[in-house]
Amino acid sequence: MPELIEVLSKEDIARRIADVAETISHDYRDSNLALVCALKGAFVFMADLGRAITVPAQIGFLGVSSYGKSTESSGKAVVTKELDLDVTDMDVLVVEDIVDTGLTLGFIMDYLTSKGARSVKVCTLLDKKERRAVEVQVDYACHMIPDGFLVGYGLDYAEKYRNLPAIYHLKL
Ligand code: IMP
Ligand code: MG
Repeated sequence: MPELIEVLSKEDIARRIADVAETISHDYRDSNLALVCALKGAFVFMADLGRAITVPAQIGFLGVSSYGKSTESSGKAVVTKELDLDVTDMDVLVVEDIVDTGLTLGFIMDYLTSKGARSVKVCTLLDKKERRAVEVQVDYACHMIPDGFLVGYGLDYAEKYRNLPAIYHLKL
């Protein structure tokens, strides 16, 4: 049986989101902010972060996948759902669940730049900094985490556990 060990509680998550949302609201006070949610993993984070940001923001969804059904990245990202928002001349903030090797994020940054965004920055809930394989700039990170596969609060393993309210280390 897979074992789940809680690493971030609902309260840990909420506290950091409040802090980061305050910083983002300040930094984007004079911008045309568009929040782009990287599906599927960031859907829960997007809902909480978006409601904590106090400046007007447009919301878009972009499906990108690089994992398939394992706990290791396939190393190649593909668009699974095209962006449903025109980001031409917008200040885009990518909302990600987790940045691991950085491959997915690099792909998303290039994609949004090609769509005519004025600026593209990144806010991630979780940052596995030590695992980076490609250089990507993470502008806002809620939690730095060591290696290990995490699930819950939007993150999955083979499409399971996304609806758990906190974040758990999955031991297979
Ligand atoms: P990267 O391309 O290696 O940076 O992987 C980033 C994407 O892989 C994230 O957006 C997640 O969807 C997924 N991912 C990476 N690490 C984990 C994890 O520990 N749990 C669940 N999904 C993960
Ligand atoms: Mg993701």
